[in-house]
Amino acid sequence: MTMAQPDSSVTIHMVASLDGFIARKDGSVDWLETSDEFVNGDTLDPEFVEAFLKTIDCYVMGSRTYETALRFESQGFGWAYGDKPTFVLTSRELPRSRESVEFYSGDLAELVNGHLRPSFRSIWFVGGGAVSTECLRLGLADEVRYSIAPVLIGEGIPFFEKLDGDIALHLAEVKAYKNGMVELRYEVRRG
Ligand SMILES: NC(=O)c1ccc[n+]([C@@H]2O[C@H](COP(=O)([O-])OP(=O)(O)OC[C@H]3O[C@@H](n4cnc5c(N)ncnc54)[C@H](OP(=O)(O)O)[C@@H]3O)[C@@H](O)[C@H]2O)c1
Repeated sequence: MTMAQPDSSVTIHMVASLDGFIARKDGSVDWLETSDEFVNGDTLDPEFVEAFLKTIDCYVMGSRTYETALRFESQGFGWAYGDKPTFVLTSRELPRSRESVEFYSGDLAELVNGHLRPSFRSIWFVGGGAVSTECLRLGLADEVRYSIAPVLIGEGIPFFEKLDGDIALHLAEVKAYKNGMVELRYEVRRG
C-alpha cells in the first residue's frame, strides 16, 4: 500500500446558481456572467489568483465537464487548468487535447487514495455534479468550495445528486465579491 502525502487534501469546487444548478439542462453556463454589483464586496487581484492557482497540484473532472472544457477551448476561451495534470473520468474513447490530460475509468476511491493522494498535495475536483456527488458519497472529499452566482435559473444540472445519508460540514470561510458572487468554503466533518 502506498502512503498518502501527509497533508494531501481533496477539494470539490464549482460555481452554481442560488438554486443549486451548475449548468442548464443543455450544459450551457451563459448565466454565470451577471451584471450584479455588491458595493461592499472584495475584488480578486489577478496576481493573487495566479498565485492561488499555483497551489493546486492536479484536477479531476467527469467526461461531460471535459467535453465542455474542450468546447470552450475550441471557441477561443482557453484551457482553464494550465499545465497541471488533469484526470478525466470516462469509460469512452475521448480526444486527448494535451499532454497533461489523462483518462481514468473505474473505482474513484482507488484513483484518489491509491494514485492521487500519494503523488499530489492539493487535489481539485472541478465537476460536474455526477463526479462531485460520487466523491462525497465515497467519503473522499475534505473540502467543498461552493461559489454562488447571483441568479436563479429554475432548472438544470444540480451541484449535488442523491446521497446515501447526511454529510456534516464545518463552515470554514465566507467571502463576498463585488460581482455578487459568494464563496462558501466548508470542511467535511469526519466521524
Ligand atoms: N458551474 C460549474 O462550476 C461547473 C463545473 C463543472 C461542470 N459544469 C457543467 O456540468 C455539466 C457536466 O456535469 P455532469 O454532472 O452532467 O457530468 P460530469 O460529472 O462532468 O461527467 C459525468 C461522466 O463522467 C464519467 N464518469 C464518472 N465517474 C466515472 C468513473 N468512476 N469511471 C469512469 N467514468 C466515470 C461518466 O461518463 P462516460 O460516459 O464518459 O463514462 C459520467 O457520465 C456540464 O454541462 C458542465 O458545463 C459546471
